[in-house]
Amino acid sequence: MTQKRLGICLIGTGFMGRAHSSAYRRISELPQAEFEITLQSIVGLDEARRRDIHDRYGWAKSGEDWMAEIQSPHVDVVDITTPTDLHAEIATASATAGKHVLCEKPLAMSVAEAEQTLAAATAAGVRHAVAFNYRFVPAIQLARRLIEQGQLGDIRHFRAHYLQDWLVSSEAPMSWRLSREVAGSGAHGDLNAHLIDLAHYLIGPIEEVVADSRTFVPTRRWPSTGETAEVTVDDATCFLARIRDGATGVFEASRVASGSKNRNEVEVEGSKGALRFNLERLNELTVYSTEDAPDIRGFRKVLVTEPEHPFLAHWWPPGHLLGWEHAHVHLIATFLNDIATGGHAAPTFEDGLACQKVLEACERSVRERQWVATGCQ
Ligand SMILES: NC(=O)c1ccc[n+]([C@@H]2O[C@H](COP(=O)([O-])OP(=O)(O)OC[C@H]3O[C@@H](n4cnc5c(N)ncnc54)[C@H](O)[C@@H]3O)[C@@H](O)[C@H]2O)c1
Repeated sequence: MTQKRLGICLIGTGFMGRAHSSAYRRISELPQAEFEITLQSIVGLDEARRRDIHDRYGWAKSGEDWMAEIQSPHVDVVDITTPTDLHAEIATASATAGKHVLCEKPLAMSVAEAEQTLAAATAAGVRHAVAFNYRFVPAIQLARRLIEQGQLGDIRHFRAHYLQDWLVSSEAPMSWRLSREVAGSGAHGDLNAHLIDLAHYLIGPIEEVVADSRTFVPTRRWPSTGETAEVTVDDATCFLARIRDGATGVFEASRVASGSKNRNEVEVEGSKGALRFNLERLNELTVYSTEDAPDIRGFRKVLVTEPEHPFLAHWWPPGHLLGWEHAHVHLIATFLNDIATGGHAAPTFEDGLACQKVLEACERSVRERQWVATGCQ
């Protein structure tokens, strides 16, 4: 098999810059990969951080000017892990320069911006993906397989929350994540974006929403200057949803949920069964079937580490667990395989746009205090 060589330019050296760098170092462990990569350049504003990631993960070069780096003929794929306000601009410029693009979620600041970004990538004829990494947790892929096979029957309920507590103290510092101008929204775009995509992936399009939002701590201090700044995003947003084919949805995202660190939980109930997933126990899927004999009927915990489970044949023997980072490895490997083979397995900018439509419909619902159609079909 001839392997396609792909030069990567990664923009952003923060949390996701590190997570994606680590994933690139590990994708060669997936033996069916139909590509070889070169870690061409790492781009970030903080020099010490940039040098650290450059040295630690073996990037060939580093720089601070993303526009210059994406133009390099050695770059085939641009990976965007900057704050949200730069996503659309960098994705559009990269696509226009003929590069394939992987962008962190949410894809853009608004539906209009997401539409323009998708149009630019489509016009350029490049491949595009959004880093909805939770699709690539093997237990979530197994959940989708069970739902597609009809093992849960007609789906009636989708219930999900994504709860963190790193903002619970009013002393937690101000950051770009708390500014609407840079982040777009707060817990909503950060955490509900993942839940919305999981609903779309597992069940189908969210057609209508009614939402509520709160900012509990209205001002915080910048750590560098001590100056007080207004928090212009939500600390928590919850919403009800009508999902295509009749399922109801209940969603909640919070970054002030005391005691919850990264509590991303999904429950689905249908006419023939149910399943439950908890990211903090990500190797497990809990499954219930009405077709089990009545005397043993109950939720069973499946340890999703068998070679028959998605991606597991490429890792460790049964019972040898995977971690949070493996979902990034699976996602990036899938996208690069799509580029190399013309496949369609990774979430695209179309999925990013669908998510953006739901995010924006929720925000309108909060303002207007009523149900709002999302436009997703
Ligand atoms: N998929 C996930 O699990 C997940 C988790 C966390 C964050 N995210 C998303 O990833 C993105 C980044 O989040 P993060 O937590 O890594 O943020 P971060 O603050 O840790 O890192 C942001 C990086 O962007 C860089 N940057 C900012 N402006 C730049 C510019 N003009 N040119 C080059 N680099 C620039 C900064 O130097 C920094 O390295 C956000 O969109 C966020 O929503 C996704």
